[in-house]
Amino acid sequence: MSSPAPSTASAPALPRSHESIRADFPILHREVKGKPLSYLDNGATVQKPVAVIEAVDRYYREHNANVHRGIHTLSEEATNLYEGARKLVANHIGASPREVIFTRNVTSGINLVAQSWGQANLGPGDRILLTEMEHHSNIVPWYMIAQRTGAELDWVGIDEEGRLRMDEFEAALEREPKVFAFTHVSNVLGTTNAVKDLVARARAAGAMTLIDGAQAAPKMELDMGEIGADFYGFTGHKFYGPTGIGVIYGRRELLEEMEPFEGGGSMISKVSKDQITWASVPAKFEAGTPPIAEAAALGVAVDWVKSIGLDAIAAHEKQLTEYAIPRLLEIPGLKLFGPPETAEREAIISFDIEGVHPHDISEILDRHGVAVRAGHHCAQPLMKRLGVPATTRASYAVYNTNEETDRLIEALHDARRIFGL
Ligand SMILES: Cc1ncc(COP(=O)(O)O)c(C=O)c1O
Repeated sequence: MSSPAPSTASAPALPRSHESIRADFPILHREVKGKPLSYLDNGATVQKPVAVIEAVDRYYREHNANVHRGIHTLSEEATNLYEGARKLVANHIGASPREVIFTRNVTSGINLVAQSWGQANLGPGDRILLTEMEHHSNIVPWYMIAQRTGAELDWVGIDEEGRLRMDEFEAALEREPKVFAFTHVSNVLGTTNAVKDLVARARAAGAMTLIDGAQAAPKMELDMGEIGADFYGFTGHKFYGPTGIGVIYGRRELLEEMEPFEGGGSMISKVSKDQITWASVPAKFEAGTPPIAEAAALGVAVDWVKSIGLDAIAAHEKQLTEYAIPRLLEIPGLKLFGPPETAEREAIISFDIEGVHPHDISEILDRHGVAVRAGHHCAQPLMKRLGVPATTRASYAVYNTNEETDRLIEALHDARRIFGL
């Protein structure tokens, strides 16, 4: 067995031992089916450090009250936690707090933009440009607004190794899309898209840009000013934070222009029987009681991630990918999806083993304590393009080790044996 992944000499080192980082995650100490848990399903959701778990607990034990409304100590504390988290997130992504809207998850953030921006800006024949590697979260909301407005979906394909086809992108821009909505990192292929360049080209062609950063946010530094997109969304539970909270960043001018997505308390300035005026941003987009405990805990997750450093997290995960890919490729009949070069991809590794269905692989891996995802990964157009109904996906986070990859490989050999291969 190999030792836990060390940081390479030139890459930023983890600020403390890998064992102590793992020790921050209580769940990693449990067993599954009598075996140590090897959690390689981080693309679906990431485990939580104890600081985040305690933040949720502390909120309900010590501060629970509704935000923005009450003039009493608990309400002020809850408001400070909620708005403090917004500032932490904004600071982390190089944005103003007014440009950070808290949502339920990235899915609801994309729905907000598709409905609110789309209803005002899309009409019959307008094109909404997507890519073949999108998660359903960045397809279905656009399909829905296209149906309502008469707009049409247009697509950028991928090449054999899971990169965006730049020739198709250029051709699609000539058709003058009104929107280009695309993922920063593919949740199936691991492909990292060159967001800054794609945004610049799309903007030059007159398109509004939205980036789905669900898989990218926990893996790389983000600076909204540098990326230049109009909207950028991510989800708390993949960012070492809790479920029930997501973030959609929007450029201030666009947010100011847009109509609210949902109506209710907290998003208004004045209500009379015949006229209502909206609150200013971001409140205009946060109707009803928001996810207060979740926001407070997301703020703690931001601090925790910063204490490790995203460059160090990325370097650690790169090493895990470099260890895993050649070992996976040694397995007879295994086909890897996505770019083979680690420079072009993140630690999200999908594969197929000839003769064994991904669901069977996943079930056999579970007997070894290895948690992976098997299925279409909410990316059915991509599955069609890849010519498979499903894949098996091993996806990594900062706490993973090369030993866990060794267990994955051993379990995959077992799956082949069980199927007589
Ligand atoms: C690329 C991508 N986009 C969107 C989502 C949806 O995230 P959520 O369900 O938290 O909204 C996921 C989750 O798997 C994802 O991987």
